[in-house]
Amino acid sequence: MTNKDEVILAIESSCDETAVAILKNGTELLVNSVNTQIEDHKRFGGVYPELASRLHLQNISKVLSYALSLKGFDVSSITHVAVTGGPGLPGALQIGAMAAKTIASYLEVPLLSVHHLAGHIYANEYVTSFHYPLLALIASGGNSEIVYLPSPMKFEIIGETEDDAIGEAFDKVARCLGLPYPGGVNLDKISREEGIETFPLPKPKVEGYNLSYSGLKSHLIRMIEKEERDAEGNLPLNVVKSYARSTEVAFVNQLLEKLHQAAIDYNVKQVVVGGGVSANSYLRSHVQEIFANDDIEVIIPPLWCTTDNAAMIAKAAHHMIELGQFAPKSMTTQPNRNLEEE
Ligand code: KG4
Repeated sequence: MTNKDEVILAIESSCDETAVAILKNGTELLVNSVNTQIEDHKRFGGVYPELASRLHLQNISKVLSYALSLKGFDVSSITHVAVTGGPGLPGALQIGAMAAKTIASYLEVPLLSVHHLAGHIYANEYVTSFHYPLLALIASGGNSEIVYLPSPMKFEIIGETEDDAIGEAFDKVARCLGLPYPGGVNLDKISREEGIETFPLPKPKVEGYNLSYSGLKSHLIRMIEKEERDAEGNLPLNVVKSYARSTEVAFVNQLLEKLHQAAIDYNVKQVVVGGGVSANSYLRSHVQEIFANDDIEVIIPPLWCTTDNAAMIAKAAHHMIELGQFAPKSMTTQPNRNLEEE
């Protein structure tokens, strides 16, 4: 490590992952440590906010100590501390922010408050550098948005869901099919095999690049409720698979059709995807296909970067340093932080 090196310590705790990463000079990821709470929230069928805060508090020092014990790493070489400042669960965000502010104050280094979705977008820079203008699709449990980036760290939301987020809708349909939490993940797992019979679903009529999942979700739930079940109340496996695959195709195609149209209309050079649902296997294979005849580069994040992590927060922070977007040491978290106000 030389005096000129930029070394970012990044912390993420906005939902159910406690994560710490160290990024050197914007490209060299020295550590990426993630502690997930998925198993702990399973019995509630979703993230239980109070438990998330308690687990972040319990785990943050463990994850931090692990990251900072990197062989040969000198804590005093840290030049910046970055933290997810929002959006996210209020209590959960505060645990990461408290740790970040304490470390930044102790080391007397600048602090950066990073928007969680900017992190999901910039995670794609672990694949390749961005060329602007570009279009980002964010698909997660809480968001379904198409975002235009004319230049680094400038965000214009040009399309968003008018009701449910895609991940939330996936989870609800999956629960109705009897699949365990996190539903989207398990729905994807059982619909991967070849030859599953699918059935067509109605296409929601939504203006512009906006999206809608609530009507489709309710339609599917009503259909599932009418299906015959065995004595234990379970649906036959082939029926579950057929619903899972048909849901995936209808949900993802809606996203991809809007994304494709927006990319053509906005004449972008690149398209990137991010958020939990970007792990979906149908989305990952079809996003390349839909752009096959266009002169637009499609970037999909590595699977490790689709779930919440601090490496993506460090990447976004690297660009914020270039732009001088530092946070005061008195920073507070913003659970409803707006991406367009970055
Ligand atoms: O970004 P994320 O980790 O956090 C939230 O926004 O909460 O996204 C989680 C969401 C959940 O709804 C989960 O079911 C969904 O992403 N998800 C998936 C897949 N992996 C995660 N949905 C469909 N297919 C997947 N492979």
